[in-house]
Amino acid sequence: MNIFEELGEKKTVFADKQYLDHRFLPDNLPHREEQIKSIAKYWIEALNNVTPPDITIYGKTGTGKTAVAKFAMKQLKEAAKNNDLNIRTEYIRCTDYTTEYQVIARLCQQMGRDVPYRGWTKAEVINTFRNLFKKNAFGKDLILLVVLDEIDILLRNDGDGLLYTLTRTDNVSILSISNYVDFKKFIKPRVRSSLRDREIVFPPYGAQQLVDILEERSKLSFKENALGDDVIPLCAALAAKEEGDARYALDLLRTSGELSDEKESDIVQGDYVREAKDYIEHNKITDIIMTLPSQQQRVLESILYLTKRKEEITSGRLFEVYKDVSRGDSVSYRRIFDFINELEMLGLISTNTVSRGRAKGRTNIIDLQCDTTVLEDAIWGM
Ligand SMILES: Nc1ncnc2c1ncn2[C@@H]1O[C@H](COP(=O)(O)OP(=O)(O)OP(=O)(O)O)[C@@H](O)[C@H]1O
Ligand SMILES: [Mg+2]
Repeated sequence: MNIFEELGEKKTVFADKQYLDHRFLPDNLPHREEQIKSIAKYWIEALNNVTPPDITIYGKTGTGKTAVAKFAMKQLKEAAKNNDLNIRTEYIRCTDYTTEYQVIARLCQQMGRDVPYRGWTKAEVINTFRNLFKKNAFGKDLILLVVLDEIDILLRNDGDGLLYTLTRTDNVSILSISNYVDFKKFIKPRVRSSLRDREIVFPPYGAQQLVDILEERSKLSFKENALGDDVIPLCAALAAKEEGDARYALDLLRTSGELSDEKESDIVQGDYVREAKDYIEHNKITDIIMTLPSQQQRVLESILYLTKRKEEITSGRLFEVYKDVSRGDSVSYRRIFDFINELEMLGLISTNTVSRGRAKGRTNIIDLQCDTTVLEDAIWGM
């Protein structure tokens, strides 16, 4: 028998796994009706041939920001189809296009202008872009709705030039998506004043809301009766604790199903969800650690060493161990503080300031926030 056919015939709880994929855009987004309506309320102006106001969406990871924006784009395209209007919607993920030049070049290309990703001056690219909006004798006014997903990355990387250019181009409306409420600190006042945006907040999902979301998705992706009764509530409860992250809830559900297939079970059990949780956590930490710069890995290794020896970890003591671990190839004591901050932002460690009485002042104590065995595997398994 052919090996692929043989493997293909393996028992599975899934009907169609693609519906649990991150890239799949469902037709129905429970508990986001209000947010979708808010966007539509502004974007409907485009159907009246008026440029809509700019919009900003905020919310923590996995709260449906990208899904809702793409859903709204799809709906507007459908509504505009039968209209004699020239409306374009373009989606840009600012982790793929990280500078003003790249974004504008991408927009030009999407609209049929042959602009290279490097080599031209910024002014040339911007001119080409603005020419798209010049009226000609027969053409209709072009209205462009640009979705800038993960805009905080671009702003941090390249400043606010892109927003300046886009807000100063007639007939362009921006929908920015950000994980951070304070991303506007990267925008200078001159740009902020022309970005007259409406804000829409995406709150974290609660456990019951996640149950509804998972139920919808599981109908498409799992075989009938393949899920134990406690599976979805358990995935939802665990994800609600992780700041209401729907992506994590879906990951838990998919991984539980995969574990079930591995065990050749007909039904996904609640226990598999707990196993899935450990598995995902393990992978996440390993991924983060693998992509850290090597100096940073050594700092983490030093923290691990001190944790295993049950020593209290002050930055001074950490630096001593770090110098040993890195054998001469070390960075300065001051850089260590940057590293500590970054590791804390990644959630791998926490720091706590304690007071040691007036004479000794205040000291920072570092605590490891992830499992030591997972960390050991990741650091020494490389
Ligand atoms: N209301 C919902 N109904 C169905 N699926 C949802 C809903 N909200 C989110 N999802 C799904 O959860 C996953 C994460 O959602 P999405 O990518 O939109 O989150 P996000 O807010 O953009 O997160 P990030 O800030 O990390 O980019 C996607 O697979 C999406 O389809
Ligand atoms: Mg997103």
